[in-house]
Amino acid sequence: MENFSNVVKKSILNISPYIPGKPIEEVKREYGIKDIIKLASNENPLGPSKLAIKGIKKKLKELNLYPESSVYYLRKSLSEYLRVKEDMLMFGNGSNELEQLIAETFVEPGDEVMFSSLSFVVYSIVTDITGGIPIQVPHKNFRHDIDRFIEKLSEKTKLIFLCNPNNPTGTIITKDEFEKLMQNVSQKTIVVLDEAYFEYVEDKNYPDGIKYLPKYKNLIVLRTFSKIYGLAGLRIGYGIAAPDIVNFIERVRPPFNVNSLAQVAALYSLKDKEHVRKTIKVNNTGKKFLEKEFDKLKIEYIKSHANFIFVKFKYASKFVFEELLKKGIIIRPFFDNFARITIGTMEQNKRLIKELKKILEK
Ligand SMILES: Cc1ncc(COP(=O)(O)O)c(C=O)c1O
Repeated sequence: MENFSNVVKKSILNISPYIPGKPIEEVKREYGIKDIIKLASNENPLGPSKLAIKGIKKKLKELNLYPESSVYYLRKSLSEYLRVKEDMLMFGNGSNELEQLIAETFVEPGDEVMFSSLSFVVYSIVTDITGGIPIQVPHKNFRHDIDRFIEKLSEKTKLIFLCNPNNPTGTIITKDEFEKLMQNVSQKTIVVLDEAYFEYVEDKNYPDGIKYLPKYKNLIVLRTFSKIYGLAGLRIGYGIAAPDIVNFIERVRPPFNVNSLAQVAALYSLKDKEHVRKTIKVNNTGKKFLEKEFDKLKIEYIKSHANFIFVKFKYASKFVFEELLKKGIIIRPFFDNFARITIGTMEQNKRLIKELKKILEK
């Protein structure tokens, strides 16, 4: 095989490609099991909104046409829903794409990009892609350590990624912590508040990023239709920021990055308030159930504000992961004994607990 390691950009050499949750079809092929549940990627176990499916069906006849690059109708609708100006909105092929576009827009090689040591892995990847220097702030009891973030701020800090609630731990940064950090951050540093799980949070100390936009012009809030709206397969996320910031990111954005089915599905999903309410209810009931059962099984976990729970087994999580796979259940193992488990429907949660019991008793 040719070796292009001295041809590729240096910053790319050491990137480990993103490893997604194991797909259902792969487990079907490898294990020959039909009835599989995936609790590995924080997807909505209720599926997409029926309204969204209706919208998609209407749009299918127009697949010969390029999508509207301006995301016209969804932009209008979201602007009313969020009460922000239309020119403060940007759309991406998932919020993941926006994270990369933000890094590409602002980070020069040698700039520092700060994020928590136990957070969404994409922050590290997009930092490396742009030749930025990752400054990983050690977590404190699985939470963002805001005082350490402040200590590590420097002239070179170009970008900060805050994940709130945090993936994989499910913890939140409080209003006080967020404000304290923002007061110490220079206007020359862009702060990204990744709120992929915003809609699940019920804690009154949780800061709603959009409310801070008038005060902090260097803030970008990211949200997505992949989680509570159940549209992960279509890839659509959005960002809200000062028009000047949006304008620069627009220069880097590929044309037609959000496909037409994603646009229409998101538009209809926004209208389906009942689907969102039901999802929250299923999530809250499931969370309580799993917490109770984890207590009984003496599985340690971190109190979550999102649709997943970060747990610590007594055994290597790779072992538990593989044993569960044999039973058709996919979870997401992390280092050592840790794993992240998405909260499913009650039926799925019960099946998980039943199989976990058998594995831990073995
Ligand atoms: C914290 C966080 N941000 C962003 C994303 C990316 O979501 P998407 O690209 O599907 O919008 C995820 C997905 O798991 C996530 O957990």
